[in-house]
Amino acid sequence: MDLFRTKSVEAVRADAGDGDGEAGGAPDAGHLRKRLSARHLVGFGIGIVIGTGIFTLTGVTAKNTAGPAVVVSFALAGLVALLAAVCYAELASAVPTAGSAYSYTYATVGEVVAWIIGWDLFLEFALGAAVVARGWSGYVGNLFDLPPSLFGETATVNVGAAAIVVVLTLVAVLGIQESARVTGLLVVVKVAVCVFVIGVGAWFVRGDNLSPFVPPSEPAEGGSGLTRPLIEAIAGLEPAAFGIGGVVTAAAVVFFAYTGFEAVANLSEETRRPARDVPLGLLGTLGLATALYVGVAFVVVGMVRYTDIDEGAPIADAFDQVGLGWASSLVSIAAVAGLTSVILVDLITIGRIGFAMGRDGLLPPAVARVSSRTGVPARVTLLFAVLVLVLAALVPLGTLADLVSIGTLFAFLLVAIAVPVLRRTRPELPRPFRVPFSPVVPALAAVACLYLMLNLSIETWLRFLAWLALGMVVYAAYGYRHSRVRQAARSGSVDRG
Ligand code: ALA
Repeated sequence: MDLFRTKSVEAVRADAGDGDGEAGGAPDAGHLRKRLSARHLVGFGIGIVIGTGIFTLTGVTAKNTAGPAVVVSFALAGLVALLAAVCYAELASAVPTAGSAYSYTYATVGEVVAWIIGWDLFLEFALGAAVVARGWSGYVGNLFDLPPSLFGETATVNVGAAAIVVVLTLVAVLGIQESARVTGLLVVVKVAVCVFVIGVGAWFVRGDNLSPFVPPSEPAEGGSGLTRPLIEAIAGLEPAAFGIGGVVTAAAVVFFAYTGFEAVANLSEETRRPARDVPLGLLGTLGLATALYVGVAFVVVGMVRYTDIDEGAPIADAFDQVGLGWASSLVSIAAVAGLTSVILVDLITIGRIGFAMGRDGLLPPAVARVSSRTGVPARVTLLFAVLVLVLAALVPLGTLADLVSIGTLFAFLLVAIAVPVLRRTRPELPRPFRVPFSPVVPALAAVACLYLMLNLSIETWLRFLAWLALGMVVYAAYGYRHSRVRQAARSGSVDRG
């Protein structure tokens, strides 16, 4: 039972410098500086959410899985993300902490599951940063015709990927306001390009391209062996393309484009008025991303017949096909801005999760010190950045992108479970934001996340389980023995879970 000891909500709040406050949070080694507002949070949210997904997945899914109804797939995936986001909003407004899902789980289910989720979040954000850094390098290398031996997937040391990680790590450790400024600039660029795509592309939408909106269902080529989705192996389903089934399958694929918004919850400890601003940041991010995604997807399938869409660069190609080839440079600029801001917010977020885990003694507390000059957890950010750098420079990671998705969905699942659990165990806790219709909405969020997880391949599941098993070894070797909650309980000063 010792493994399931919980950390009290009061202890989590006290560690985080307790809720709303003005400029508060005097810079010291234990507290993050509170500087952020809802506007910054939406900036960071859009910074990490709009990356490669919209620029690549629209084409593949429209052409092979959903047809013009990919627009509905984007809306559906946005809805699932929204279900998860309202769960995050309730917990983050009640318990604003840098640990986010890790800390909520610590307060509800217990330490070992909290460790698993923290370990899982490292996977999501560190691997995410490394995968995107390699993508960035390849994209920029192609754009400027740089040598593949330094920027391509075949490079022994991917210098481009390493360089972008170094530069963005420096930004991340400078301070949260400096990071907010850089992220804000990149976000303005990519949002402006999305608005341009929608505004200009709308003039070239042709009704006949949108018909049939939902092409009739047909058998699809599925993967085989370990590349099959787990759900097919369990339920013996045959893969289908198009039709209503295709629209749902495409929603599972394009869900990737929404991942990352939960980083907003990790920044709640640095937010001046988290009770109001974190829900605004989460819902604002998702509202804006959904509107842009649905708009861009609609314009793309309206400009080009879905059968003729380019799988690699659907948006640039759509503009090419209507004689506006120059617009593809704008799309490239937005893609580079998008990739850059995703890496930056990934690095910032891993720092916050490592900080929260170090504060609890599950990682060495020395790494969790906040720099008194910058008010950010510089040491742990640097430590994880080195790991990201090594991965990005040396390992071809392209095939591991699905691991990022499964890690994200697992965290969402536990957050959805934590909402009703905390309502039952701590009904009196002030909840500035409440999930409507709980426990129905959290249950729907949990089922939707589980369904999306089951749609990932068997090999992704096996890799994920291997990562979690490695995490258990690390926990047994270090966290279990150094946990502050356990040590305090031994000396009798903390509630027993
Ligand atoms: N949501 C991010 C993207 O679409 C990861 O690239």
